[in-house]
Amino acid sequence: MTTEYRVTIEPLGREITCRDDQTILDACLRAGVWVPHSCTHGTCATCKAEVLEGEVSHGEASSFALMDFEREEGKTLLCVCKPMSDVIIEADIEADDAIEVHPVRDFHGTLVSMEDVALDTRRLIVELDRDLVFNAGQYMSLVVPGQPGVTRTYSMASIPTEPRRLEFQIRRTPGGLATDGWVFTTLAVGDPIDLIGPYGRFVLRTDRTEPSVLIAGGTGLAPIASMIRHTLENDLDGIGHMTLYQGARTREGIYDVELFRALEAPHPDRFTYRPCLSEEEAEGFASGMVTDVLNANHETLKGHIGYVCGPPAMVEAALKTLMLKRLFPRDIYKEEFLDASAAASQVRSPLIKR
Ligand SMILES: Cc1cc2nc3c(=O)[nH]c(=O)nc-3n(C[C@H](O)[C@H](O)[C@H](O)COP(=O)(O)OP(=O)(O)OC[C@H]3O[C@@H](n4cnc5c(N)ncnc54)[C@H](O)[C@@H]3O)c2cc1C
Ligand code: FES
Repeated sequence: MTTEYRVTIEPLGREITCRDDQTILDACLRAGVWVPHSCTHGTCATCKAEVLEGEVSHGEASSFALMDFEREEGKTLLCVCKPMSDVIIEADIEADDAIEVHPVRDFHGTLVSMEDVALDTRRLIVELDRDLVFNAGQYMSLVVPGQPGVTRTYSMASIPTEPRRLEFQIRRTPGGLATDGWVFTTLAVGDPIDLIGPYGRFVLRTDRTEPSVLIAGGTGLAPIASMIRHTLENDLDGIGHMTLYQGARTREGIYDVELFRALEAPHPDRFTYRPCLSEEEAEGFASGMVTDVLNANHETLKGHIGYVCGPPAMVEAALKTLMLKRLFPRDIYKEEFLDASAAASQVRSPLIKR
């Protein structure tokens, strides 16, 4: 049997109901109360908040995202903590009118297509039973079959104007529960898939008119593809010129090159495409890591904004490069594809500010 508690979110003064088996973040997002979050798995610390009154259980908060002394000071991570009494929470909520808030919901879908698009990389198309309203760049939690309560997060590569047909781009993690144990082994076209969302604040900023550089490593391309396709295919006004740096090691690790070339051709004034290979020379591809190519291409990026998405090490390198090119942290939007190994690690980059 579950018990329901009252949770008050300050400084908004909003009161919501949360079950004792539900995370406070989940209750907030389902009630349409937006609180900062990124990984939703207790790893990134974006959702850190203070418990002003009442008791919570901290769940699977990683020990570097929520340190022991912070627990003692009454801090918690809203994405993994659950109420044990009525509670009052003080969250770090910055008003951000540019991001539309779409409540989190449960969805049922069917896998209608699956293809290998690059080395250890699959494209999944999931048809939903009802429309999903989301911002370009957001992600869903996919429920791993046969593992009650276990989810993994994947960004939509598709665009908000295709609300029932979601595209995901998923890279295999050796030994990974969801990838090696499901998506790359037992999953088949026609299978049902349960999803929860939408989540995340790494979204296309429709309030920013500056030119942008978008840096994608591996399947970090997915949310960035959604942002670029949404801007160009739906002819969004007011978004500055976009330059995509897409990185992979070799030709067989990079994908959707033709798609971006086809988007660039009719829109030379709006979009530039720079695919980069770090371990192979090939015609039509820049040589080097995305950060090296970006470094060589721009004397300064003053007046630009940046979007960065991919594995944590690549995100850190890209942040360093963008800052050296005179971008301020407030002009850089990022999403790190943190996984369970990051949750277990004790080391975090000082550049990744929460
Ligand atoms: C916001 C966000 C969006 C994302 N979007 C995408 C996307 O669009 N596409 C994509 O491909 N990925 C994406 N990811 C990553 C994705 O969510 C998964 O983390 C990834 O697919 C691995 O899942 P898995 O279940 O296969 O591996 P897991 O089982 O989670 O394991 C991951 C790694 O950690 C190791 N590990 C597991 N447990 C421990 C432990 N206790 N100690 C040490 N190591 C351990 C495993 O051996 C493995 O190497 C995203 C992540 C985030 C946070
Ligand atoms: S969103 Fe809670 S720790 Fe990342």
